[in-house]
Amino acid sequence: MPLPENFIQELKMRNDIAEVAASYVNLKHSGRSMVGLCPFHSEKTPSFHIFPENGSFYCFGCGVGGDVITFVRRIENLDYMEAVRFLAQRAGMQVPENQVDDGLAKLKVRILEINRETARFFHQVLLSPEGKPGLDYLMGRGLSMATIRHFGLGFSPSSRFGLVDHLRKKGYYPQDMIQANVAVRSQSDRAVDRFFGRVMYPIIDLRGNVIAFGGRTLGDGKPKYLNTSDTPVFRKSDGLFAMNFAKNTGQERLILAEGYMDVIALHQAGFTNAVATLGTALTPEQARLMARYTKEIVISYDSDAAGQKAASRAIPMLREAGLLVKVLTIPGSKDPDEFIRSYGDQGPARFRQLLDRSGNDVEYRLQKIKAGCNLEQPDGRVAYLTGAAEVLATLSSKIEQEVYAGRLAEEMGIDRAAILSQVQRVRRKAESSRRQKEFRTFQQQSAGVRDAVNPEKSANLRAANAEEALIAFLLSHPEAVREVSRRLPPEKLVTSFNRRVYRAVLEKAEEGGEVDLTGISAGFSAEELSSVARMLAQHHEVKATMQDAEEYCNVILEESNRLDEKKVLTADAQDIQKYLQRLREQKK
Ligand code: CTP
Ligand code: MN
Repeated sequence: MPLPENFIQELKMRNDIAEVAASYVNLKHSGRSMVGLCPFHSEKTPSFHIFPENGSFYCFGCGVGGDVITFVRRIENLDYMEAVRFLAQRAGMQVPENQVDDGLAKLKVRILEINRETARFFHQVLLSPEGKPGLDYLMGRGLSMATIRHFGLGFSPSSRFGLVDHLRKKGYYPQDMIQANVAVRSQSDRAVDRFFGRVMYPIIDLRGNVIAFGGRTLGDGKPKYLNTSDTPVFRKSDGLFAMNFAKNTGQERLILAEGYMDVIALHQAGFTNAVATLGTALTPEQARLMARYTKEIVISYDSDAAGQKAASRAIPMLREAGLLVKVLTIPGSKDPDEFIRSYGDQGPARFRQLLDRSGNDVEYRLQKIKAGCNLEQPDGRVAYLTGAAEVLATLSSKIEQEVYAGRLAEEMGIDRAAILSQVQRVRRKAESSRRQKEFRTFQQQSAGVRDAVNPEKSANLRAANAEEALIAFLLSHPEAVREVSRRLPPEKLVTSFNRRVYRAVLEKAEEGGEVDLTGISAGFSAEELSSVARMLAQHHEVKATMQDAEEYCNVILEESNRLDEKKVLTADAQDIQKYLQRLREQKK
């Protein structure tokens, strides 16, 4: 049973889309809509629009759109029911329970409970005699009891059934333990512990749920870290270790480290704004997540080759997300954890110095290029300057460009203007290829080519455009539905997707329900709703009237009739016989 319509409408009313979105996106008023940088893809010029009038959003850059529920689903990575609960909680409303079939949501709740109980269990084991090897190990790495408790660190027993037996006693089912990936199915079809004899690091999301674990061997066993695989509540590439703590520190910058131990050591040393990815390369999602909480990132990766390579890859991604990037270089090929420990009591102060001295990523990148060129040779000098111009060309600030060009000129003993003109050349080239790409996308979109949601659009542009304009009109003028439906029966719509949307609008109006994006959303996928949101967005500036609507209807009818005639013309004799037969029967 779906949720009652009046509940959803009230939910929407009490969760103003502009307010909800404003807690994730910096929005500015622009005419009757609000715009900001899209949280769903990386961009430098805002194409993300909120339309408070009809409660919808749409991004002209990536084509994602919908109502406030869709927005929360996407941005918080929730399923429908979870998003509804999220918004209900926000507005202090009670969700009518027991009538929804939300198997997946229930499974997620069970997995989260199992994870929480598992974390508690591992922590208790760590503090028991059985966990002594683990506790010795962690203390040996310089962690205090307070830090161990703060991070909820634990130890997984060496027997293969310690956790499974414990969870079973608590009333959990083996199949759910397997879904949570804290247990695996054995050859003999039993659930056995996935982690044993490892120090356990729980991974906690922004809402305080334990969503996964990392487990480290005590010795040199392989793999060094065993992590939870992806489960219904966990995607490795989305998570950031310790973000639950770091997000609350209210600092203007976050420190991005490589490993669990680095982050823990940094927090213990007072740098509670440190986070790490979970053994994967940084993803754009993670960069955007960080950009929601801070302006600046200090990359603090290992100073070995792998760490430096990872840093070079992370920099453009972080910049794309609008973050200022600095790179901290740790002397003596160490990771932050080793560095801090090697100075004992002085560790935190020493690390603070490194932080304050950390260069911005431009210097870092120039340094990298320089290291790869032989400046004794003319070739090498040219290579360095060419590479450097490419780096400077990525800077959006003219002042920054001038400053670095000046330094380069001095360093290499050449004219600053020559460097700047090379920078301009690179920029123009990049700009023109960006324009071309944008133009192609625009052409494809406006020609309706590759509209996956409405594949018939490209062959029926005139009809499809009128249909879309009409749908947008009706969703903002529900009072007109009746009149329009008298003129235009649904079967006259040419493209089947638009026909479905139109039908949904008519049905909603018939039921006396709210005719808007939310009202018709049942029965449409997220992509399909994005497409409807696009129609609203594209027609938002047009103040269409009933007269325009009539015109749209006429175009659709014309096109529909034209196509029918064409069908008759191309039909074979037998079809024509059938057609005539039908006509005769209709007349009788
Ligand atoms: N990692 C992993 N699997 C491995 C090795 C590493 O998932 N086999 C991930 C972990 O998240 C780890 C990070 O990559 O924290 C960085 O690896 P490393 O520098 O080796 O880890 P540290 O946290 O520094 O661990 P330690 O100091 O205990 O060796
Ligand atoms: Mn380490």
